[in-house]
Amino acid sequence: MTTTTTTGTPQAQPAGRTDVLRASGVTMRFGGLTAVRNVDLDVDSGEIVGLIGPNGAGKTTFFNCLTGLYIPTEGQVAYKGKVLPHRSHLVTKAGIARTFQNIRLFANMTVLENVLVGRHTRTKEGLLSALLRGPGFRKAERGSEERAMELLEFTGLAGKREHLARNLPYGEQRKLEIARALASEPGLLLLDEPTAGMTAGETSATRDLVLAVREQGTAVLVIEHDMRFIFNLCDRVAVLVQGEKLVEGSPEAVQADERVVAAYLGTPFEGEPGEAEAAEVREAETREAAAHDGGQTGTGENPKGEQH
Ligand SMILES: Nc1ncnc2c1ncn2[C@@H]1O[C@H](COP(=O)(O)OP(=O)(O)OP(=O)(O)O)[C@@H](O)[C@H]1O
Ligand SMILES: [Mg+2]
Repeated sequence: MTTTTTTGTPQAQPAGRTDVLRASGVTMRFGGLTAVRNVDLDVDSGEIVGLIGPNGAGKTTFFNCLTGLYIPTEGQVAYKGKVLPHRSHLVTKAGIARTFQNIRLFANMTVLENVLVGRHTRTKEGLLSALLRGPGFRKAERGSEERAMELLEFTGLAGKREHLARNLPYGEQRKLEIARALASEPGLLLLDEPTAGMTAGETSATRDLVLAVREQGTAVLVIEHDMRFIFNLCDRVAVLVQGEKLVEGSPEAVQADERVVAAYLGTPFEGEPGEAEAAEVREAETREAAAHDGGQTGTGENPKGEQH
């Protein structure tokens, strides 16, 4: 089944690329609030697509619509040509995995167990069996353990396989979420702020990890506030503002787009932040100094006792 998009980049799909995600006309209303309005977004195989926008723009809500957590008020989401059901476990089973803005791990399970639980959609054993660690789960576990260890190697967590998830530093918890998401062998990985709270080194390692995920054949849609991360990583970037897709295009085109600069970026890469405010203060000081010189009453104090 095909859907059409009315906005975005009408460029032809490069040879060999296929549709992974097609979201069309997705709208999500909460009572009187329209958090997402008529958003179209496609992701092709082999792509890393960024989704950016100010706080409250509707990015996470859009992810929740894609993954069956919310039933969109309007619109539909198709994965590899099939419209997805509004049930999150069926969406995972179909091939879309995600991480969460607020980390969701089984805190009292080990690193390895968390990844094994992530594999339950690819084994006959259900989540309950995985959590209860029944005989069926243990059998499936043996079969899955090798793949889980591969994923821990891949994410750099193999040495911590027996650590409890809650004892991992924050950056490693985010990595573990990615490993767990990959355990369901997704064709599309959705990352909601994967580098939030990370050091520069961890962010750079996460970039390498996302590139490696793509190399292994999984397309990626990533929400981030770290513009450097997004513009260095993504093939294409879409900008949500107040629930609507404002712009979509290459990182270069999006960075240069005046609407994006005005709505979101401000003047991040050049110019002096706060220059307008500084000019106002200078002007006020000049006025005050002039008034003081003219014998009028002014504060005229120098609370820090600084020498002029
Ligand atoms: N379950 C809900 N019920 C009511 N309103 C909601 C719900 N979820 C989100 N919203 C509202 O929808 C809007 C979009 O929120 P959302 O969390 O999607 O933004 P976001 O772009 O992910 O922001 P951030 O960058 O801060 O994570 C906000 O106004 C939020 O308060
Ligand atoms: Mg969010």
